[in-house]
Amino acid sequence: MGWVSNQSQFTLITGQFPACNARLVHAGLFFSTPTLSFFMQFAQRLQNVETSAIRELFKLLGKPGIISFAGGFPDPALFDATGIAQASAFVLANNPGPVLQYGATEGYQPLREGLSAFMANKGATVTADGLIVTTGSQQALDLIGKTMISPGDKVIVEAPTFLATIQCFRLYGAHIIGAPIDADGVDVDKLETLIEEHKPKLVYLIPTFGNPSGATLSLARRKRILDIAARTQTLVVEDDPYGELYFDAAPPPSLLALSAEVPGSRDWLAHCGSFSKILSPGLRVGWLIAPAALLAKATMCKQFSDAHTSNLTQAICAHYLTLNRLNDALAVVRSTYAERARVMADSLRRELGDAIAFNQPQGGMFFWASLTGANGKSANAPEFAKRAIEQGVAFVPGAPFFAHDPDLSTLRLSFATADVAKIEEGIARLGRAL
Ligand SMILES: Cc1ncc(COP(=O)(O)O)c(C=O)c1O
Repeated sequence: MGWVSNQSQFTLITGQFPACNARLVHAGLFFSTPTLSFFMQFAQRLQNVETSAIRELFKLLGKPGIISFAGGFPDPALFDATGIAQASAFVLANNPGPVLQYGATEGYQPLREGLSAFMANKGATVTADGLIVTTGSQQALDLIGKTMISPGDKVIVEAPTFLATIQCFRLYGAHIIGAPIDADGVDVDKLETLIEEHKPKLVYLIPTFGNPSGATLSLARRKRILDIAARTQTLVVEDDPYGELYFDAAPPPSLLALSAEVPGSRDWLAHCGSFSKILSPGLRVGWLIAPAALLAKATMCKQFSDAHTSNLTQAICAHYLTLNRLNDALAVVRSTYAERARVMADSLRRELGDAIAFNQPQGGMFFWASLTGANGKSANAPEFAKRAIEQGVAFVPGAPFFAHDPDLSTLRLSFATADVAKIEEGIARLGRAL
């Protein structure tokens, strides 16, 4: 209650299913209902969360046949439905009682063990007890907010960063400070200065194929960040839903994996993982790895929140991991997204030329671009978005991804859900909208 959306308009911008709160959060599209909020005394904390300027854009959505690069969803055609069906059938046939019963807040033990092995394959040592299963990594972020942030606490994030994290941390009263990024991720010199100046409660980073930035933090910067975390005793939260979606070479090891090389850093590191982008977001299975004291508090807060993540979907994930299908499924996702990213880059260069600047992502789902204003073209992305919708193509202007001082020339384009022909046509429409 309290949030509503225009379902058909939302569907257009995401190119996905009818709207619900979770989807609104993911796209950063929030609608308050004036009549309800007029009569109801909502919690004061809601005043910290602003409605998004993107909603203005929605008034212009309504045309059939729109091509959407706006959503943040993986391509459902790439879900390994056969493998998930096999895993579902197995757990329901062999273990129906426990998987349909209430379970432990920390998570379904076979999955915790499976995740420990999964993380070991990625170079990170974590015991089954050193992680908890969460209802998507979004819940892990919420639990971090709940356990760590008091009103007025400072939090440093990348500028730009995942909008739902900004909104979530603001609900807990965080004062959010943006640290600049470039193609190699967050600028570590500036980050260090900001940490020394503001002494934040935590630093939130998406080091690999960031959303929305597409950027990947270099190995050298990763090590420096761990060093700074240990030296300044600052909690760093690594959010890593996209790390497996690399196109050619694997990205540098996660901060979690590298923390073994930097003494003391593991004590100041939390890591959020998720099956959403590698298996299926509808399963709502993510995980949180954190120092024991933080994990214990997060587990306590999860008890009051949802008691535990669905045992059934946890068991499906646990069994799926034993089927040895994930690598093959991921290989298809990686090559499909790689081709789409290549086509999007070529199309952008061909259709928009030097009016747009971007770094070619090496993985993930997003292009982060900025309008240069070259040849007298507009450098205002929100205005451009309106003209783009008139031409039948949607993207998300970049401004809402900044906690403050938005860069109005920026925009995010997802290449995950449109096929190659749609990408070419959609970017041609963008060219006409310039
Ligand atoms: C950077 C980032 N973190 C966390 C999430 C939440 O994902 P989930 O809750 O589906 O695991 C997303 C989803 O788009 C994301 O982009």
